[in-house]
Amino acid sequence: MTERTARDLAARRGVETNVYQPAEDSGLLADAIEKRGRGRLLEVGTGSGWVAARAAREVPDVSSVVASDLSPHACRAARRRAVEGGPEEAGVSDSTGDRTEPDGSGSLFDVVRANLVSPFADDAFDTVAFNPPYLPTDPENEWDDWMERALSGGESGQELIDPFLEAVGRVLAPGGVGLLLVSSLTGYDAVLDRVDACGFDHEVVVEESYPFESLSVLALTATGGSSQ
Ligand SMILES: C[S@@+](CC[C@H](N)C(=O)[O-])C[C@H]1O[C@@H](n2cnc3c(N)ncnc32)[C@H](O)[C@@H]1O
Repeated sequence: MTERTARDLAARRGVETNVYQPAEDSGLLADAIEKRGRGRLLEVGTGSGWVAARAAREVPDVSSVVASDLSPHACRAARRRAVEGGPEEAGVSDSTGDRTEPDGSGSLFDVVRANLVSPFADDAFDTVAFNPPYLPTDPENEWDDWMERALSGGESGQELIDPFLEAVGRVLAPGGVGLLLVSSLTGYDAVLDRVDACGFDHEVVVEESYPFESLSVLALTATGGSSQ
């Protein structure tokens, strides 16, 4: 772990907006979806919608894409990306499933405002992908805004990863796969302990090293099951 804080990383990535912009980690998650994504895909924490759009456009094995985020700003940005030329807020639904606008025709993917996987039905997806907020953050330096929620994984770095691992199995269809981006800044072994405790086998689909962190995307499959 370096002295780097969520704020440093945000500055380096030029994220002056309140929506996380595509970066190295986004590209790596999209690469993993290209390799292992199939069927009905949910991207949790879609941010700008860049990963979801790439999956919808470029991965033939993916049949449909739902993109979700807790942030209303991210949902609006993702919807703009999904609907070419469409109005900013068209078609964003909340976690009750009430759509605010129109039928979504011409849309690359659907956008749902949601906390992790909570509104989705059991067994609804064949692939669930997540690039979580993962930076360990001193509670004194926490920001009370949407960009902090996009970057900070709380004091441990795992405050979104742990509940995701506990919940994702419910929405994965039998034989489904979870794709989780993990950073060395969070602590690879600590995440693997939780992966194991939550009943998943894992394999590394893609990985990259950068001067200040290493990133991997893990494919998670139910222990004893197979994904493909
Ligand atoms: C690191 S960003 C990744 C954005 C995008 N997937 C990408 O790779 O470029 C993490 C995203 O998770 C979202 N997020 C944070 N907490 C969440 C939660 N409880 N449920 C759903 N999304 C959440 C943030 O708003 C942010 O858009």
